Amino acid sequence: MPTILAIESSCDDTGIAILQDRKVIANLIANQKVHEQYGGVVPELASRAHQQNIIPLVEATLSKANLKLKDIDAIAFTRGPGLIGSLMVGVSFAKGLSLALNKPLIEINHIHAHLLAHLIEEDNKPNPNFPFLCLTVSGGHTQIVLAHSPFHLEILGETLDDAAGEAFDKAAKILGLPYPGGPLIDKYAQKGNPKTYKFPTPQIPGYDFSFSGLKTAMLYFVRDNIAQNPNFIQQNLPDICASYQETIVEFLLLKLKKAAKDYNISHIAIAGGVSANSVLRSRLISIGEKESWTTFIPKFEYCTDNAAMIGIAAYYKFTRKEFADLSIMPSARME
Ligand code: KG4
Ligand code: ZN
Repeated sequence: MPTILAIESSCDDTGIAILQDRKVIANLIANQKVHEQYGGVVPELASRAHQQNIIPLVEATLSKANLKLKDIDAIAFTRGPGLIGSLMVGVSFAKGLSLALNKPLIEINHIHAHLLAHLIEEDNKPNPNFPFLCLTVSGGHTQIVLAHSPFHLEILGETLDDAAGEAFDKAAKILGLPYPGGPLIDKYAQKGNPKTYKFPTPQIPGYDFSFSGLKTAMLYFVRDNIAQNPNFIQQNLPDICASYQETIVEFLLLKLKKAAKDYNISHIAIAGGVSANSVLRSRLISIGEKESWTTFIPKFEYCTDNAAMIGIAAYYKFTRKEFADLSIMPSARME
């Protein structure tokens, strides 16, 4: 039974987790508030905050798990994709720890990990059976993946430009909301009517996505309405958020439904930060009931960036002894 210490530092959250086999023993995260005022993540500030957070967070995670460093069998880390300066902090720390403890290193692809979080073992929560489909939607990626096994993840479709999370965050910025705007659009939308305004659904063939046109549509929509009424945003924020969110969620689910039908798959999952969206979650459940799918929706702590997902991905590599050596470097882009 391997005990794995996992490190996530791809963007602006530092995560440390400890897993024993497929079970999470402790999973802690240090969020960085410093970026809110800038309307997006500032890379230099992110890597500095990772440096400050990482050691106290490892100590807190060990203490929560009631374990010592000598109990750790392997050290896993996010190699990419992400911000290079942020990744560098996690990779360097993992290498140092591996050298000091003389334990193997395991490199993990962050996007694969979002999906593999569905394989974490939890009481009373079934895991999907292979092959299953996963809509992975985050601030950096939007993919429909056919998961054949933990080692074979086939990308059926992906975004041609912005990610779904960016579509939320950029629209939020246009509306004057702080970063990250996705959760705020979700919150305001709960009091709005999604049928009030009509945004154009992108017309893209196959299982691919595109969100840049939607963001531009929001920009012009706001500009034109403010020209008529300077208080347009303040007076209509819930309806604007609900209508815009509706377009994104419907577009995502349209493609997911098509893939499920074409590939005849009934175990359907969502993953990544945008899978925390309340309408995406509830709509998936209701479509699932209609289509006789078994749906898998991650716990909130496994939706946005976290190290537990790095740990579960590492567990599978550990079983195959797929270890990295000390020459490993972070990679801002990974397939
Ligand atoms: O997976 P994640 O934490 O980081 C990346 O790997 O990118 O995803 C972050 C993204 C952000 O764009 C954020 O606005 C979005 O997930 N997000 C949401 C919600 N919660 C987080 N988008 C819509 N509704 C939410 N409730
Ligand atoms: Zn992520």
